[in-house]
Amino acid sequence: MPSTVLVGAQWGDEGKGKITDLIASDYDYVVRFQGGNNAGHTVIHGEKKLALHLMPSGVMYEDAVPVIGNGVVVDPGVLVKEMAMLESEGVSCKNLRISGDAHVIMPYHKDLDGADEKRLGSQQIGTTKRGIGPCYQDKMGRKGIRIQDLMDEKIFRLKLDAVLAQKNPVLEKIYGLHAYSVEEVCEEYLPYAQILRKHVAETGQLLNDALRDGSSILFEGAQGTLLDIDHGTYPYVTSSSCCAGGASTGTGVGPKAIDRVLGIQKAYITRVGGGPFPTELKFAEDGGVGQDAADGELLCQAGHEFGVTTGRKRRCGWFDAVIARYAADVNGLTDVALTKLDVLSAFDTIKVCVAYECDGKRYDYFPMQQSVLFHAKPIYEELPGWKDVDITGCRDYTELPEATRSYIEYLEKITGVPMSIISVGPDRDQTIMRGW
Ligand code: IMP
Repeated sequence: MPSTVLVGAQWGDEGKGKITDLIASDYDYVVRFQGGNNAGHTVIHGEKKLALHLMPSGVMYEDAVPVIGNGVVVDPGVLVKEMAMLESEGVSCKNLRISGDAHVIMPYHKDLDGADEKRLGSQQIGTTKRGIGPCYQDKMGRKGIRIQDLMDEKIFRLKLDAVLAQKNPVLEKIYGLHAYSVEEVCEEYLPYAQILRKHVAETGQLLNDALRDGSSILFEGAQGTLLDIDHGTYPYVTSSSCCAGGASTGTGVGPKAIDRVLGIQKAYITRVGGGPFPTELKFAEDGGVGQDAADGELLCQAGHEFGVTTGRKRRCGWFDAVIARYAADVNGLTDVALTKLDVLSAFDTIKVCVAYECDGKRYDYFPMQQSVLFHAKPIYEELPGWKDVDITGCRDYTELPEATRSYIEYLEKITGVPMSIISVGPDRDQTIMRGW
């Protein structure tokens, strides 16, 4: 199997979990390269559904090595809990490898994430409040604490002392929050070091050696293209590189090693948190009216669009080909997995946004100006639906209704990327493989 990057091609929640789960067993290594426990997806284990936030999906397969790369931010308490949960369900975590260069989410990162959002008021980003942004800020500001620091008590205390001298006045004086002592943080964090120590490794070297030996790697992206710190809808983004390029910087594996880039796209779009969303069908409670509000509600209910990590209702909208073409470019997508196609069986007709209009100008490409994106009106094509035809039992492309195939082929034409996997239901077997 060629080494593959799997990335979200929208605003996250595209159904990456199911597709990862479907293909992960084909790879020798499954590697997370960015983000942290702001991600969340469910994997099927026997009769049970297990929620993973930080652990690479490869943990579910005995032969795959799950790796947490240097680009990930690790909340050690969350990781230790997730490992315990998996072990109690009979899933062994013994193969897990964690980069010593990955940064550690500290208690003050979580406090500052919440406090900063409060400060932003109506402009808030709607973060998951897991401390992701503040941790990456410290990484870039060169005052972060890494997993390797946590493994060395003396260094950990020294670095913590220096960083608290800077954080405590901010916590106390600006936000009126609790100031931390070195001792209390050590009391919580040092026991984590004991549990995680045996998993810490030179993961860059491990992966490059593995490639030399002919092993294959699945780079498992979290969040999505439009949440990428560089290529997303800044500042309404997460703080990491979610695009395919992040797979290299976040693991220490050069881009030449990547053979395939699989983008995951939902047959419609969702977004959580704030920020522009041109095809949004606003819910009634957010000021939406008429058919659009009804369609948005139907997408949300039929698609069970509630966050795994936060439980929040996701904003919903029609498929946006402007975004799809942009995602194809910035990731270098070789193919796409189209997910949740069955959800569209609820509609008479299906809209696809082909371009935007703003101040009388047409935009076929994703606009650079944030203000354009905020005011962009979608230009739609309306396609015939396949209302009430149950497609969840289809396993071969030819079994799909003609209208469904036309919809897929229309998307391929306007986005320029072949769709190699079509998902028609939540279960693993509710999938049509089309040249994967
Ligand atoms: P943060 O990653 O917690 O800093 O949140 C920044 C933005 O990214 C917010 O709008 C979040 O809702 C969004 N976000 C973070 N993780 C995910 C995800 O896994 N799926 C969808 N949105 C996410």
